[in-house]
Amino acid sequence: MNTLSGGFQSIQKCVALLRSGDVLGIPTETVYGLAANAFDEKAVAKIFAVKDRPTFDPLIVHIPTGWGSLRKLDELGITDSSLLSSEAKAITEKFMKAFWPGPFTMVLPRGSRIPDLVTSGLSTVGVRMPRHTITQDLLRTLQLPLAAPSANRFGRISPTTSSAVVSELGGRVQYVLEGGPCEVGLESTIVHVAPDATLTLLRPGAISREELAQASAREVALPEKTTSGKSSAELAPGMLASHYAPAKSLTLGSIEELRLMLADQPEIRWGALLLDPAAEARIAEVVRSRLTVERLSEEGDWSESARRLFSALRRLDDDGAVDRIFAEDPRTTTLPERTGGMASAILDRLTRAAAPRH
Ligand code: TXA
Ligand code: MG
Repeated sequence: MNTLSGGFQSIQKCVALLRSGDVLGIPTETVYGLAANAFDEKAVAKIFAVKDRPTFDPLIVHIPTGWGSLRKLDELGITDSSLLSSEAKAITEKFMKAFWPGPFTMVLPRGSRIPDLVTSGLSTVGVRMPRHTITQDLLRTLQLPLAAPSANRFGRISPTTSSAVVSELGGRVQYVLEGGPCEVGLESTIVHVAPDATLTLLRPGAISREELAQASAREVALPEKTTSGKSSAELAPGMLASHYAPAKSLTLGSIEELRLMLADQPEIRWGALLLDPAAEARIAEVVRSRLTVERLSEEGDWSESARRLFSALRRLDDDGAVDRIFAEDPRTTTLPERTGGMASAILDRLTRAAAPRH
């Protein structure tokens, strides 16, 4: 796999590749994506093949900054807002103004030019306007929507650097566009906007449920508590219990639980993802020496921990001196806002990484 710098010539090359129906690794502020022209079903099929992704898991469509209105998206055949109530339309436009460009995806009624494969046959489509400047340069030059899932093999850890894309997909994809380490580090927040303006949070991310409720002056339901009459499986078919999984087994718990495991199983070499800067001091020196530690933030800052999470997980997974991985449960820390927006997004990813595999 070749890495293309973000300069003018490589943008031109990327545009040519995408126009001819190829796939390409792209940076975004959340995680790296594997992109193809969303209007071209054959190109989109390559994404599923490269990722080993089952076709029941729909893709997010990425758009340039000039397309941030329902009128424009309807005109292009990406959405069909005639199916939304005027209240739902007003909320959608408010969200666009408040959170685009940024780590935020809306699931809206699908337009006629979006192929079945992109949406897994659903009548809705996920749309996001990323804010990464290089990818925005690309989208603006291309003037096509890009379908792009995270650039990892299905079910595995999302890549937050171009080298992580190479280690996930090298050999299967020709090019990745270099955009530096991802600024957010966790995938976008996803919200389903129902025709009657019912809002459901399908995936937590950097844009919190509280911010969404404030911008819309509406409750935002959690998927299991949706009031739209549809089950969470119908609303978000790709949200599987096991995801973001390292090859090694991962245990989510408190520092007390880690201490017990260290004492009970001295033969196991643990790697630990720690969130609370005070955590390490609570592990006795003698056992600490048997532990490979990844401190996610020296200040206990949730955004910093989110940014570093996937790369730290990847390092422990690749470390020959680590048998099993422990991750500190955000709820068991003593940090402020341990159940807040970013902490809940981190918990969501760690819970899926720890879940029994398919
Ligand atoms: O931050 C992100 O969103 C990243 C970057 C590359 O933009 N992309 C990403 O894509 O996380 P992916 O494929 O890993 O996750 C997409 C998820 C699907 O698994 C599904 O849960 C949800 O988005 N999704 C997409 N379209 C949907 C739809 N029409 N209805 C419900 N859920 C949808
Ligand atoms: Mg993904």
